[in-house]
Amino acid sequence: MFPTASLTAFLLLAVSVAANPIVVRKPPVSLSFARHLNITGSYDLVAKDQARAKNFMAIGKAKQSGTLSSAAVVSVGVTNVAVVYQATVGVGSPATNYNLLIDTGSSNTWVGAGTTYVTTSTSVQTSDSVSVTYGSGSFSGTEFLDTVTIGSGLVIPGQSIGVASTSTGFTGFDGILGIGPTDLTVGTLSPNTGSSVPTVTDNLFSRGTITSNLVSVSFEPTTTTSVKNGELTFGGTDSTKFTGALTFIPITSTSPANLFWGINESIRYGASTSILSTTAGIVDTGTTLILIATDAFNRYTSATGAVLDATTGLLRITSAQFSSLQSLFFTTGGRSFELTANAQIWPRALNTFIGGTSGNIYLVVNDIGTPTGQGLDFINGYTFLERFYSVYDTSNHRVGLPLRHSPRRRAIDGDGWVR
Ligand SMILES: *[C@@H]1O[C@H](CO)[C@@H](O)[C@H](O)[C@H]1NC(C)=O
Ligand SMILES: *[C@@H]1O[C@H](CO)[C@@H](O)[C@H](O)[C@H]1NC(C)=O
Repeated sequence: MFPTASLTAFLLLAVSVAANPIVVRKPPVSLSFARHLNITGSYDLVAKDQARAKNFMAIGKAKQSGTLSSAAVVSVGVTNVAVVYQATVGVGSPATNYNLLIDTGSSNTWVGAGTTYVTTSTSVQTSDSVSVTYGSGSFSGTEFLDTVTIGSGLVIPGQSIGVASTSTGFTGFDGILGIGPTDLTVGTLSPNTGSSVPTVTDNLFSRGTITSNLVSVSFEPTTTTSVKNGELTFGGTDSTKFTGALTFIPITSTSPANLFWGINESIRYGASTSILSTTAGIVDTGTTLILIATDAFNRYTSATGAVLDATTGLLRITSAQFSSLQSLFFTTGGRSFELTANAQIWPRALNTFIGGTSGNIYLVVNDIGTPTGQGLDFINGYTFLERFYSVYDTSNHRVGLPLRHSPRRRAIDGDGWVR
């Protein structure tokens, strides 16, 4: 017989699954992608993440003051980030394949930085020019409508895409597949109509190819610098990539986090040490670390006993401190997401790659660079998201996360069940 507690848990689970009809067993629309670490030296990881955080805040300020279209920073973008995701996307018919960076921090899709855009009978030039300046790098050119092919045979006719005539900062890539919130495209076309450019996900939804306007992201954790094991699923979730029901967290109303995949969250270390009181921040695939407000970072530093490592810019702990490292709990959407001790450390096999020493133990929690109260006080970045499958649900204005670490991550680390 089941003890009463597990029976109750089972029933709750069954009810939650029934309430999440977007789960599909075989993802009809998925795109695999490769991940590469783009770190060029010591301290680079932290510097790139902090620059990205600063950019998010600058975009917020520009939006608030109504100067976004003229602001230098239009999109956070994928250039100069520490982790890049890359996928092959076809454009035209017959399709030419382009090697695109996947970006949740920007929303224009464009080609032409490397491989030249090949027009076919499906290519329609519009009268708009397009220009996006990223945190580092930029492109400008002409907006076209064309057929875009994603994954194995998912065809989107009439997708609005940029075709670069000039670009900087995209060596080795042809452009970007922008899957951030659509409003980030406002002001990128000229003449500027003030309207947004529908993303690939928007078009899949409006054409009825997918029944929910959402995209899900799976990362398989790895200890190598380049690996093709990511998966984007459009319109649903891939139930083979996570276990248990999803918790859905409403997009925060707090600005500027609400311009991105923003949520309210509090963070606790161990049973009772408060690190961050409930505040707004974002979930972001393009940030490598977990960044928290400076005061919260100081509390985490003293709670763990870590010291700041001058070479990497990361917190460092001893093996004895690692043995007693408590879990970090992220409370959001009424649930607590647990990062175990293993989940809080940088993969040791990659220590030297970030300028560190192979035997050292570095922590993935770092300083966002500003005190709490900015309306964007944390970023749950890649090191959080490789633990938890994530769903970016535009239709319902929410982010979905399962309570348990991904099965593959548990297999590597031996992490137990997460409550
Ligand atoms: C990698 O980082 C360098 C700077 O550190 C940047 O110039 C380059 O554009 C980045 N590459 C990609 C593909 O993001
Ligand atoms: C998030 O926090 C803000 C500020 O406390 C609050 O106004 C809001 O209701 C909270 N929830 C959401 C979904 O925004």
